[in-house]
Amino acid sequence: MLVILKRDREGLNREAARIIASAVRRKPSLTLGLATGATTLGVYAELVRMHREDGLDFSRVITFNLDEYFGIPPDHPQSFHHFMHENFFRHVNVKPANIHIPDGTVRENYEEYCASYEASIRAAGGVELQILGIGRNGHIGFNEPASSLGSRTRLKALSQETLDDNRRFFAPGEEMPRCAITVGIGTILEARRIVLLAAGPSKAKAVARAIEGPVTASVTASALQLHPDVTCIVNEDAAAELAQKDYCRRVLNLTAQFTPNRLW
Ligand code: F6R
Repeated sequence: MLVILKRDREGLNREAARIIASAVRRKPSLTLGLATGATTLGVYAELVRMHREDGLDFSRVITFNLDEYFGIPPDHPQSFHHFMHENFFRHVNVKPANIHIPDGTVRENYEEYCASYEASIRAAGGVELQILGIGRNGHIGFNEPASSLGSRTRLKALSQETLDDNRRFFAPGEEMPRCAITVGIGTILEARRIVLLAAGPSKAKAVARAIEGPVTASVTASALQLHPDVTCIVNEDAAAELAQKDYCRRVLNLTAQFTPNRLW
């Protein structure tokens, strides 16, 4: 794994947006895997800025989001549909037909629906660049601890930690969804390139376990160690518990020297 350490969130946002923009410029019809959440907000803002000021063109990009809460409609203010629309899609030129976000309102035939989401990823040629955040418990997507490392898109019960972390976004008294539809770890690992983003002190333990710990279903992000092309962009707070920070910096310098295409 290539680990890029950034001092603050702004540095992380710029680096992540730079990588996405460079992938889109190299291949305008890129298939992009997207995440929601606080960590991605600044990245989307930077991409929107690049679209407006530098003409970054998303008109041929195809997107697949990782997950959606189960049981809430797309126009619910906490739905990931709403998040994506408000923070990204309505400001750029991704074609609505090219946007894919799991449907949290399916009522039956869940397995069939989830298999069809997988099939649409395959039909698009697979995800070429997957953006991920990481939960405090090490989840990626909503693949909570003890998820199968070979898992596919499915209905998943949210862990207590995730319920606690995300309840604050729902109105007082409103019942928070207890499940989500999420792509699986197996699905994520099929992306050609993966960029994991982590910011803030609450992520420090999860980041250290994901990058330096054993591969374990208890920290599903650790499965990324099995992938040949993962870049982790981590700010100082989130990197606090990494033991190998100096080595990460050395690897980055040598990568820039010998295999700079890994940093594009
Ligand atoms: C959301 C998702 C989650 C988040 C993670 C971090 O689509 O897939 O795995 O990336 O929970 O969320 P934040 O960035 O809000 O800390």
